[in-house]
Amino acid sequence: MKFFIDTANLQQIKEANDLGILDGVTTNPSLMAKEGIKGEENILKHYVTICEMVGKNVSAEVISTDFDGMVKEAKKLSALHPAIVVKIPMIKDGVKALKWCSDNNIKTNCTLVFSAGQAILAAKAGANFVSPFIGRVDDSNWDGVQLIEQIVHIYGNYGYKTEVLAASIRNPLHIVRCAEAGADVCTCPLSSIMGLLKHPLTDIGLQQFLEDHKKSQA
Ligand code: G3P
Repeated sequence: MKFFIDTANLQQIKEANDLGILDGVTTNPSLMAKEGIKGEENILKHYVTICEMVGKNVSAEVISTDFDGMVKEAKKLSALHPAIVVKIPMIKDGVKALKWCSDNNIKTNCTLVFSAGQAILAAKAGANFVSPFIGRVDDSNWDGVQLIEQIVHIYGNYGYKTEVLAASIRNPLHIVRCAEAGADVCTCPLSSIMGLLKHPLTDIGLQQFLEDHKKSQA
């Protein structure tokens, strides 16, 4: 399973990248705003900085909601760096824009996906990634991981090439359960990635090893 980090924070991207296990980055307009990045020029520059840090799979989202606007933005974003993946929302014109990008060799990530039906449309339109938001599904009292299982199953039935990118991850257990469900990618906050490290028996065991080593040196 690939690991993406879901942030526009350069410090956090660096920390995850330094671990050596990072395969990409996803951003969205809310995450960009959280970092205080304002104005088109600064936003585009920020994407390039992330691309240069990570080198692959950097999702940058369009703001337009009509076909022509989305295509115009997709061209501009994809020209920034070869690592750019254009994030397009699951709306009617978004499906058309996904197909246009697929026909014109622009990589895409279909975002704001909350049902298997939407995931089928994304795959049919040739999206490279589909992003079901599992945390938000859980928040609405449905089962986010079950949605991942369903999409993985359907894509397997037809050999769809679209990668299932579990998004809106809230904790380390989400990552493990998405891996069990066969997600191709998880995009996670740094806290969830680091949370995978934690086990009290590791800490207790390490402390014991170090104490015993000290005794053998006395
Ligand atoms: O990648 C999508 C993600 O950013 C949404 O996460 O936590 O806002 O539901 P969240």
